[in-house]
Amino acid sequence: MTLVKDTSGIEFERGESSPPRLLDPFQRAITYLRVSVTDRCDFRCVYCMSEHMTFLPKADLLSLEELDRLCSAFVAKGVNKLRLTGGEPLVRRGIMTLVSSLSRHLASGALKELTLTTNGSQLQKHAAELQAHGVKRINISLDTLNADRFRAITRWGNLDNVMAGIHAAQAQGLQIKINAVALKGVNEDEIVNLVEWAHGRGMDLTVIEVMPLGDVDESRLDQYLPLSIVRARLAERFTLEDIDYRTGGPARYVRVKETGGRLGFITPLTHNFCESCNRVRVTCTGTLYMCLGQSDAADLRKPLRASESNELLYSAIDEAISRKPKGHDFVIDRRHAKSALPRHMSMTGG
Ligand SMILES: C[S@@+](CC[C@H](N)C(=O)[O-])C[C@H]1O[C@@H](n2cnc3c(N)ncnc32)[C@H](O)[C@@H]1O
Ligand code: SF4
Repeated sequence: MTLVKDTSGIEFERGESSPPRLLDPFQRAITYLRVSVTDRCDFRCVYCMSEHMTFLPKADLLSLEELDRLCSAFVAKGVNKLRLTGGEPLVRRGIMTLVSSLSRHLASGALKELTLTTNGSQLQKHAAELQAHGVKRINISLDTLNADRFRAITRWGNLDNVMAGIHAAQAQGLQIKINAVALKGVNEDEIVNLVEWAHGRGMDLTVIEVMPLGDVDESRLDQYLPLSIVRARLAERFTLEDIDYRTGGPARYVRVKETGGRLGFITPLTHNFCESCNRVRVTCTGTLYMCLGQSDAADLRKPLRASESNELLYSAIDEAISRKPKGHDFVIDRRHAKSALPRHMSMTGG
């Protein structure tokens, strides 16, 4: 296959015209792809997975080469931000080969950002290579600074490893955003500490509301802590100044006057964030979800495998984007204490 570049530096196959960019029915340009590279993880966070998960047979997964081709097709169609996620992306064998090959789109200018969301457990090993491949910012999920609580929340995790990973990433100059899920009765007394800790180390912090994705072993109602409460409590301690900073995502940011740091709130349940949605998600088996909160999906593995040329894949992507819904309708209340959707977050990625 011969690759050539169009005027904006985007690679496409010789003989193919540059494919049209992605615009959904609500005129939102789709420029952000999140790719779950594995459904597996070395943790079992209580809000994300049940203790005994059944994972996909490895044979169902897209190979690293297929993941590369799929991501590159989206890049050719105007996606300029790629986030690798999971499951835990850094437990996928050979993941650095994928990061390395995708970094060519950074070099060509087609991608503005290549990043990942990680639990941090393997970062010590990989931070230097990530930096070398052009990754500049990463999200690390951390819900508590207490080792016992950390073990209770993640079931299998070790806080020291994650802290070592954070230090390694910072030593490489990677910018870090910490993501913390607000959990009723579990870490709600720690959010102030997390703000001071993250901001004191030059990291942004985003607090996330529990989303009803997949059956876990606990009731969602027991876990759910509305961020309106978190925010009101933080406002008793800090001066929260609304700022315009937007990442095109669901977070709304404030500046914490006392720390000078940025604090984000992701409130899918108390606040609708869909109108500016620019993203879609693809699973490790090549299923495209046009909305995190809806079941509709498109199989991209079949067109990917059906032909060496990308034409079938491009039309499958176009067709799927033409079905992207306006928004989701998550609810957690007494009547809906179970999952709104059967799939876990580890399948579609956060
Ligand atoms: C599914 S994880 C995948 C990446 C990586 N393993 C990690 O933990 O960062 C991505 C993000 O989703 C969040 N998450 C998982 N399940 C969730 C749920 N039910 N509601 C809200 N956030 C969730 C995690 O806290 C994490 O920040
Ligand atoms: S949130 Fe991330 S680290 Fe925790 S179980 Fe899910 S995928 Fe693993």
